Amino acid sequence: MKIAILPGDGIGPEITAQAVQVLNALGESFEMEQAEVGGAGYAAHGHPLPPATLALAKSADAVLFGAVGDYKYDTLERALRPEQAILGLRKELGLFANLRPAILYPELAGASTLKPEVVSGLDILIIRELTGDIYFGKPRGVRECPDGPFKGEREGFDTMRYAESEIRRIAHVAFQAARKRDKRVTSVDKANVLETFQFWRDIVTDVHKEYADVELEHMYVDNAAMQLVRAPKKFDVIVTGNMFGDILSDCAAMLTGSIGMLPSASLDANNKGLYEPSHGSAPDIAGKGIANPLATILSAAMMLRYSLGKAEQADRIETAVKQVLAQGLRTPDIYEAGTTKVGTEEMGNAVVNALR
Ligand code: IPM
Ligand code: MN
Repeated sequence: MKIAILPGDGIGPEITAQAVQVLNALGESFEMEQAEVGGAGYAAHGHPLPPATLALAKSADAVLFGAVGDYKYDTLERALRPEQAILGLRKELGLFANLRPAILYPELAGASTLKPEVVSGLDILIIRELTGDIYFGKPRGVRECPDGPFKGEREGFDTMRYAESEIRRIAHVAFQAARKRDKRVTSVDKANVLETFQFWRDIVTDVHKEYADVELEHMYVDNAAMQLVRAPKKFDVIVTGNMFGDILSDCAAMLTGSIGMLPSASLDANNKGLYEPSHGSAPDIAGKGIANPLATILSAAMMLRYSLGKAEQADRIETAVKQVLAQGLRTPDIYEAGTTKVGTEEMGNAVVNALR
């Protein structure tokens, strides 16, 4: 089995190195091949998603992705910015289903900014559609406004859209995931204002007919944002479009107080996937050896479970992570008085030791 390792920028190389170390400690024979992506891809080959990197990602059974982005690339034109790498990979690999679990580890209950009783035991799964919506809709750009009160001025515009089959397939992913959990799906939309999301609601309702054992609730996105901080434990699976999912998943991640702990999976129709931490490249702490590698290590566990058919090895990693937390080891982002502060590498080593 071949795994493409794309470390990227900022803390990306440090955290993926630890995930690779953990994968190597499993005693399996994975073929791992590394390539530049994001700012690193631009620096080495003049493009955030160099052709060789894309080819490697396409040829691999799974992709382990670090993070992309750095201040020094912020002034590049849009097509060359690091973010284009992840958007390009999602589109080119057809990774339409983004799974972002938000779990509160009991050991980290104090890390949340919300009251412990609001978040303790939190275990929600956000399923974000990842290749449609306003992110990829065309036309888009800046043009001369054709009519209305601003006629003749320049205007920026994007296109929000979803094809029926795109909504159907992500709805199936959500209902099937719910079946393995608490059997409840909240579909988040803005059907009261947007045509695209009235259509979304109608199609999700139709797909639901095949899942009588799963409860479906529809919720407007503004209300969903409010409920996420008011009573987040009421949610089980949340399914939503690309942009709402982007926003709500950051909110859900922060409920746990430790975005450094949260993995994610982006899957195609055949469970080929790209796995990355939910956090970004954190250029402010890059190279300091203090980034939390656990989200990437847990992303490697998701990769084993969803793309490589190795659920047992995934369980082993997740158990090892719980063990190091129980031992009181903490990177600075999750540090609390009374625990032991460790760096990126020490944390990776501790997980490897716990695996043995
Ligand atoms: C994410 C990120 C990306 C997104 C950016 C980097 C393009 O915020 O994965 O959530 O908006 O999808
Ligand atoms: Mn985001």
